[in-house]
Amino acid sequence: MSINKNKKIIILGGNVETGAIVDIANMMGLYTIVIDPNPNSPSKRNSSKYYDLDVTNLSEVDSIINKENADGVLVGVADPLVPYYQNTCNRNNLFCYANEKSIKYLTSKSNFSEICNAFGISVTPSYTVDISNQGEIENVEYPVVVKPVDAGAGVGISICRNPSQLLLGIKTALANSIRKELIIEKYMQCDDMFVYYTFIDGEAHLSALADRFKTDKQGEFSSVCIAAEYPSRYTSRFVKEVHPKLSKMFKDLNIINGVLSIQFFVDSSNFYAYDPGFRLQGEAPHLYLKHFNNFDHREMLLNFSISGKMFDLNFKSFNDFKFNNKYATTIWILLKAGKISHIRGVNIIKSQPNLIYFLQRFEIGDYITNEMIGNERQVFARIYTVSENQNDSVNLIKFIHQNLSIIDEFGNEMILDNYQKSQT
Ligand SMILES: Nc1ncnc2c1ncn2[C@@H]1O[C@H](COP(=O)(O)OP(=O)(O)O)[C@@H](O)[C@H]1O
Ligand SMILES: [Mg+2]
Repeated sequence: MSINKNKKIIILGGNVETGAIVDIANMMGLYTIVIDPNPNSPSKRNSSKYYDLDVTNLSEVDSIINKENADGVLVGVADPLVPYYQNTCNRNNLFCYANEKSIKYLTSKSNFSEICNAFGISVTPSYTVDISNQGEIENVEYPVVVKPVDAGAGVGISICRNPSQLLLGIKTALANSIRKELIIEKYMQCDDMFVYYTFIDGEAHLSALADRFKTDKQGEFSSVCIAAEYPSRYTSRFVKEVHPKLSKMFKDLNIINGVLSIQFFVDSSNFYAYDPGFRLQGEAPHLYLKHFNNFDHREMLLNFSISGKMFDLNFKSFNDFKFNNKYATTIWILLKAGKISHIRGVNIIKSQPNLIYFLQRFEIGDYITNEMIGNERQVFARIYTVSENQNDSVNLIKFIHQNLSIIDEFGNEMILDNYQKSQT
């Protein structure tokens, strides 16, 4: 695209998922500049240029924007960076999909609960405890989940079954929170799902819904997803019961453009909102939107960052959260701690016809450290599959699990768990 030829985009963040945005920006003909403190960040591999700088250092980021004469800034796949993205765009008068209010309520779990309550949307039951009291914490019905309000990717979360675990959990959560705030919730043992919205010129479009399946093999660590199934089995209930309330909330937050994912617990009586993600997602539902509906959130957000416009055509005629009555399943491959010595089966899996993408996050020689366990850093790969019927999907998932093997230096299998998909 020649119109982008002399345009410069700054992308904030360094992970593999952010690297995928850099690749798309390169394909669009943009000059890409990554800012991230780690010199070896994967997102820097293909960027035109990069700076080893923490994006929380706002004045230095301002200088780079000026020096480079950048046309736009976009945040990558990293929750903690979203407020800095908004701040930076604001300081430099650049297009930004977030505003102060939407940042306040969509980048802190406790603020998010507050605004959901105000719009009649149920949230996960939570406890207010005085964390300055390091002694006995009373009136808590265990188990509970302790989380930083603003970390993301499952980092800093603990499941606590007694007061001493709770005290430890509080420390862990605080250590991982930028705002030094935490939230203590009831441990929910019900179904789990997420919804994904696209905002264009002030209108909210529901673009995808998926059920989340998690491993139960990691004890006190917070549970990590092993699969997502689209469309969610709760689609029609969600559209009727929650979507209208959310739409009002979005208006109040004055969300004009952008993308937003929200996770919910769900049982027979209710949906309980619990985690907003105001950015492109690591789990990348946008890959299915591109596949089934032929629009690309990465391109749209990049276009927005340099021009203020997400999409030129009639978005409604593209957007279909039912994926044209087809199915999609993302398989998450989680690893146990150790050093990767062999990786087997990737090529044969990649050659399967119903596989649309294989995102691999580690190579031979990489270590899975203990700190990566219980959060999304233990994800070796996300495998994106599509199907016309559930039977084909079950067979493909079996094939993936039968063929993929990651071996550590002592000859042990590192894959933690396999997703068992049922036919119905
Ligand atoms: N109250 C809870 N009860 C049970 N599981 C939870 C609870 N809160 C979070 N989890 C699980 O922990 C994981 C990460 O929590 P989440 O709130 O999404 O934080 P993050 O912002 O780090 O993604 C998710 O898989 C989620 O299902
Ligand atoms: Mg989450």
